[in-house]
Amino acid sequence: MKVTVIGAGAVGATCADNIARKELCNELVLLDIKEGVAEGKAQDMMQTATLLGFDTKIVGSTNDYSKTAGSDVVVITSGLPRKPGMTREELIGVNAGIVKSVCENVLKYSPDAIIIVISNPMDTMTYLALQSTELPKHRIIGMGGTLDSARFKYQLSQHLGCSPADLNAVVVGGHGDTTMIPLIRLATWNSTPVTNFLSTEQQEKIVKDTMVGGATLTALIGTSAWYAPGAAGAALVESIVRDEKKLFTCCVSLDGEYGQKDICLGVPVVIGRNGWEKILDFQLNDSEQAAFQKSADAVRSMNDVLKTL
Ligand code: 2OP
Repeated sequence: MKVTVIGAGAVGATCADNIARKELCNELVLLDIKEGVAEGKAQDMMQTATLLGFDTKIVGSTNDYSKTAGSDVVVITSGLPRKPGMTREELIGVNAGIVKSVCENVLKYSPDAIIIVISNPMDTMTYLALQSTELPKHRIIGMGGTLDSARFKYQLSQHLGCSPADLNAVVVGGHGDTTMIPLIRLATWNSTPVTNFLSTEQQEKIVKDTMVGGATLTALIGTSAWYAPGAAGAALVESIVRDEKKLFTCCVSLDGEYGQKDICLGVPVVIGRNGWEKILDFQLNDSEQAAFQKSADAVRSMNDVLKTL
């Protein structure tokens, strides 16, 4: 099994680190456009192999896509990260060009790869990857909801005083501060609705804090977060290469599901060896469906910006 991570910034390097530690592939390629950075980070990670006890070979490359040849999964993290006060949407102009050319280069050498998109604005970059590559839709997966759901579980755990691992909770819709929809009605603590244990005020706060989870970290750190985004990317790679068929919220192409067409948006999907294999219908109630429509409208108008570039 071979996996490539494009972009050796904080998110890409963290994603690669998680992939190596879990030994998800024999060969892992880390590629970046900045001379020497991917090679340096790959070597640094390789020097943890005996300390952490993994056997994955990590190769760094400065923009030489031939090294990525024959990858089964490619994770795209390239592009500018957010600065404090910036929305993910403001990155569209610069990152669209980057993601498009990365996709072209990747497919030249790995025509059968499954592509995971992390670059922001993630919903629009996933849509762009699908449109520009014309790959079968199951092979393009946007990571956003996987990360947002992990952040949602973290927020819930803080109020419930419980382990996040005991929680089931998903965020659907877009990966934007105003477009994501944490489905608190459906969240459970070991099968019991979390709403049984939380006041309305607590529920509202959890939902709000989840939605601005990325922006909160950007303000604290001075740039976009990387530990959870990198781990979320690696969790998707794991479900693909091990054919785990785990359920994640991912940004995928909708063809009538959840009332939407011609858009990539976050919905619950089964992730396995073929990419995203099935969309689950979580039967949203009227207000959740209205929020989903609003989210789709916002993402669609962002996608329209692609036509002007
Ligand atoms: C975040 O929400 C990087 O979009 C990513 O932190």
